[in-house]
Amino acid sequence: MNHYVVTGGAGFIGSSLVRGLLAGGHKVHVIDDLSTGSLDNLEEVADQVTVHEYDIRDYERIAPVIAGARRVFHLAALPSVPKSILDPVTSHQVNIDGTFNIFRAAAEGKAGRVVYAASSSAYGDTDVLPKKEDMLPRPKSPYALQKLVGEYYASVFAECFGLETVALRFFNVFGPRQDPTSVYSGVLSIFLTCLIERRSPTIYGDGEQSRDFTFVEDVVGLLLKASEAQGVSGKVFNAGNGNRYTLNETWSLLQKIEGVDLPAKYGPPRAGDVRDSQADVSAAVRELGHAPRFTFEDGLRRTLAWYKQARTEATVSR
Ligand code: NAD
Ligand code: UD1
Repeated sequence: MNHYVVTGGAGFIGSSLVRGLLAGGHKVHVIDDLSTGSLDNLEEVADQVTVHEYDIRDYERIAPVIAGARRVFHLAALPSVPKSILDPVTSHQVNIDGTFNIFRAAAEGKAGRVVYAASSSAYGDTDVLPKKEDMLPRPKSPYALQKLVGEYYASVFAECFGLETVALRFFNVFGPRQDPTSVYSGVLSIFLTCLIERRSPTIYGDGEQSRDFTFVEDVVGLLLKASEAQGVSGKVFNAGNGNRYTLNETWSLLQKIEGVDLPAKYGPPRAGDVRDSQADVSAAVRELGHAPRFTFEDGLRRTLAWYKQARTEATVSR
């Protein structure tokens, strides 16, 4: 009972978590089908990690990897709101059936604890900000509902099967290795790429929707704390920064940082889009012992520097 499993470990957040676990001296197994992730994300740590290129919908293959794990971090998912509207069947199968498989494998294989990547999208549009864990969830998209079902399974597995679980509702996470190449990519990865390439981004809607942008290192910090904290099994915590920026403010800030003038284009609003998002982080600070360490601007500068560096390295190696 000593290994750690990260599902989705070749993805954006998962690959940062893998580095955090390796830094703690842990033996790490990754389960990832590489559908949205990539082995490039694990490049310089590849020889320290065992990667199982399995689909979480395939119970027979994943169960032996999870059996006996000390901790399981379940991050594998199809993480896009618009993709879940375009193709609800696949996202349901991965995000709900796949998630059930992880909890089932952990319970049957007597894993020590599962930490589940839930989503702030579960809140939907609330009357009050910031959003607190005891508010009634109002999912607005298949994706938001699927992530909420995973939370409910986490608490039910704790209640009925004696499996330790903790769910973290990530707010909008950004940072190094977030893939900017898809229309479904996280907005900051797209904005930062536009900035570097001196292109105008497209903002969906009026740009006055707001997000609690959270730097990936803070999310990794919370995941690690949630995996060891006592007295938290079956619970749900916000994993956010506590800030709130509109997309218009965000694009203005980025132009200022880079000293450019590139007015955004505007397109129709996206179906299933939450209007405003902001975390109340007090429960996570109190019960998990992690307060946000990175301001939005600090995280943005670090991420911008990372994208620039990655492009320089790609040009040199061509
Ligand atoms: P990502 O797409 O970079 O990572 C997801 C990983 O899961 C990828 O490596 C992908 O290949 C893998 N995967 C997808 N389907 C799979 C399957 N069927 N079997 C095995 N592996 C599969 O996305 P991310 O932003 O790193 O998101 C990680 C987790 O965090 C997801 O569960 C997502 O719902 C959650 N989350 C992310 C955010 C955010 O802002 N990025 C916010 C809230 C919650
Ligand atoms: C994001 C995450 C989701 C997570 C949720 C938690 C991604 C892809 N999605 O969803 O996994 O559960 O946060 O809160 O990481 N937008 C533009 N232009 C673009 C792209 C997006 O204006 O080119 C807008 C969207 O319409 C939306 C906002 O930016 O209003 C954020 O979009 P996106 O980054 O896709 O994230 P969420 O849908 O908030």
